[in-house]
Amino acid sequence: MAITETAGSPGARFAGRVAVVTGASRGIGLAIAARLLDEGARVLLTARSEDGLAAARDALGGRDALGGRDVPDDGAGTAGLAAARDALVGREALGGRDVPDDGAGTAGLAGRIRTVAGRADDPEHRRTAIRTAVDAFGGVDVLVNNAGINPLYGPLAELDLDAARKVLEVNVLGTLSWTQEALSAGLGDRPGAAVLNLSSVTGQVPSPGIGWYGVSKAAVSHLTTTLSVELAPRVRVNALAPAVVKTRFARALYEHDEPGVAARYPLGRLGEPEDAAAAAAYLCSDEAAWVTGQVLTLDGGLLAAGGVA
Ligand SMILES: NC(=O)c1ccc[n+]([C@@H]2O[C@H](COP(=O)([O-])OP(=O)(O)OC[C@H]3O[C@@H](n4cnc5c(N)ncnc54)[C@H](OP(=O)(O)O)[C@@H]3O)[C@@H](O)[C@H]2O)c1
Repeated sequence: MAITETAGSPGARFAGRVAVVTGASRGIGLAIAARLLDEGARVLLTARSEDGLAAARDALGGRDALGGRDVPDDGAGTAGLAAARDALVGREALGGRDVPDDGAGTAGLAGRIRTVAGRADDPEHRRTAIRTAVDAFGGVDVLVNNAGINPLYGPLAELDLDAARKVLEVNVLGTLSWTQEALSAGLGDRPGAAVLNLSSVTGQVPSPGIGWYGVSKAAVSHLTTTLSVELAPRVRVNALAPAVVKTRFARALYEHDEPGVAARYPLGRLGEPEDAAAAAAYLCSDEAAWVTGQVLTLDGGLLAAGGVA
């Protein structure tokens, strides 16, 4: 059998591609944005806070120029920094292979970053963000529906229905409507189009206390498989279903006793944002060209061992 080089060579799998990552000023979204950027993509990041986005943009874009400034917050950035260097050094090692110069340039990471602040469930914000990606970078190839909320804690029997509707607005309808907006703007018109949704293991097994969040994530998983069938073959649609990843969002679930919580995981630790970013990059790249409709569990073995999220 002949061994052929694929388009998805690690290191520059997103050269010439444009990615939109929602909820990307910190945590998992920031790590995914960093990874896609490191591998050659032009990336548009969203979040509600302008300041959070400015810090993320400075940290991501300043890494090559400032030689070591770290991404702030919860550890999402350090591996991204290392990966950026690896990618840059690696290109030399591969004999000068470079990402194509598509107008965005390869020298300055900052030139490949745009940010738009707004709420993920605001239609005007969605339109502006996708339009900005198209105007600045010429289209959208990858959409990462990462923004998600979980403001509720308690039994379903006592659920505040207005708060429950808001969770569905952001987590489920947000995921669908960002996908609709990107499709309207041409997602799928050129090869390599991919959507990645952030689900959760709480969508697979009941998680007492955060049951409604789990219901919303179960819907995200089903939305993923349904869209994957509807949008094939032009757009691949997959999801990640993480257990606890160490971010601000999940801090309350582990900070009281991280070793104790981690001991429930066969791999002996909680997830890092970079664990999600590595899986995200694979699923959004051409290396996953025959993968669609999948919800990839990222849980350090928790569910296999019969654990509850
Ligand atoms: N961490 C985990 O253990 C875990 C496990 C399974 C699934 N997930 C999922 O992974 C995704 C990311 O979570 P994370 O842990 O990385 O959270 P995080 O660290 O709190 O980051 C959330 C990001 O989304 C933005 N954001 C929050 N609400 C938003 C909204 N309504 N509209 C737009 N942007 C919003 C935040 O910025 P602003 O505050 O400025 O808006 C921030 O950039 C979520 O969908 C979550 O459900 C997380």
